[in-house]
Amino acid sequence: MKNFCLLLACLCVCSVFSCYAQSIMPGKEWKDTDGNPINAHGGGVLYHDGTYYWYGEYKGEHTYRSPGVDWDCYRTEAGGVSCYSSKDLYNWKFEGIVLEPDTLNPHSDIHPSMVIERPKVIYNDETGKFVMWMHIDSYNYWKAAAGVAVSDSPTGKFTYLRSMHPNGQISRDMTLFKDDDGKAYHIYSSEGNATLYISLLTDDYLDHSGTYTRNFPNKFREAPAIFKRNGKYYMVTSGCTGWDPNEAEYAVAESILGPWKAVENPCRGKDADKTFYGQSTFILPVNGKKDGYIMMFDKWNKTNLIDSRYIWLPIVFEGENLTIPWMETWNLDNIGCRFVGENRK
Ligand code: DGJ
Repeated sequence: MKNFCLLLACLCVCSVFSCYAQSIMPGKEWKDTDGNPINAHGGGVLYHDGTYYWYGEYKGEHTYRSPGVDWDCYRTEAGGVSCYSSKDLYNWKFEGIVLEPDTLNPHSDIHPSMVIERPKVIYNDETGKFVMWMHIDSYNYWKAAAGVAVSDSPTGKFTYLRSMHPNGQISRDMTLFKDDDGKAYHIYSSEGNATLYISLLTDDYLDHSGTYTRNFPNKFREAPAIFKRNGKYYMVTSGCTGWDPNEAEYAVAESILGPWKAVENPCRGKDADKTFYGQSTFILPVNGKKDGYIMMFDKWNKTNLIDSRYIWLPIVFEGENLTIPWMETWNLDNIGCRFVGENRK
C-alpha cells in the first residue's frame, strides 16, 4: 500500500511537471494552462505590472470560404478578441474573451459575420486606460477599416467605440507602437495594401492626430511588427499573398515616422524564404533582458484557421543587423545572447 501511494504521488508530480512548459517550440501546438490550444491569432503582447498579456483573434471552429469572393478568402466567424496572461512567457492562462463579438446587432463592426483581425493593446499612462486597435473588415474584406476599443483593466471587458478610415484611407493589417516618450503610433497597410501608413495617435490613443507618413509606396507590405533598440526603429513585414506564406523583410529607421530603409529577409535556416511558413504579427521585448526581443509569427492553416499555430523565435543581433534563425525549441536562457549554430547563414 505504501509503495502504491508513493507511485501515485510520483505520477501526480510528473503529470504536473509535464504540463508546465519550460521552453517554446515554434509551430507546435501550444496549450494554455487549462490544456486547451491557445486561440489568439494575429496577436500582440502587452507587458503591464509584471505580467504579459497576449491578445489575439479568437477564431471560430468552422472554417469556410466567403461566398461569392473570387480569391482564397477563408474565414471563421469572428469570435472577438481573446486574452491570455503569463509571468514566464511559456505558460499562458486563458483570461477569456476580452472584446466580445456583438451577436445581437447584424450591422455591428464586431458581429460574428465580420472580420476582427490583428488586435493590439497599449496602456495610456495619462488616462489609465488600456486601448485596443484592430483591423475591422466585412466578410469579403471590402470595408477595410480600423476599430478601437477601451478598457479600465488589461483583462477587459473592452468597450468597442467605433471604426474609421484613418487619414481618409483604408486600413487593413496593423500594429501599434508606444514610444519611450509616451506617444503612440498606428501602423497599417493602406491604399489597397500598396503602402504602409505610420500615423501618430492623439494623446488619449483613441483617434488619429493627423500626423502620418506613407512608407514603402507600392511595395505591398503587410503584417507589420515594430520594435526600438538603441534608439533605432526596426520593422518586420510580410509580402501580400493572403493566408499563404511569402518572404519577410526588415527595415530600419532613425525616426518612427521614417524614412525607412528596407534591408533584407531576416529569416535564416530551413524555409527562411517562406518565413518558416509563418507571417509576422508582433515583436515582443522581454522584460529585463538586454537585446531580448521575440519575433512572433502566425503559421496560418487557411482551411482550418483555428488550428493556425504560433512561431515565436528570438531575434539575434550582430551590431545593428538582425537575423531570425530557425530553432526547433528554445528557452529564455538563450535570448539576448548570440546563438552559435548551423542556422546563422
Ligand atoms: C493576410 C493578413 O496578414 C491576414 O491577417 C489576413 O487578413 C489574411 N491576409 C486574409 O487573407
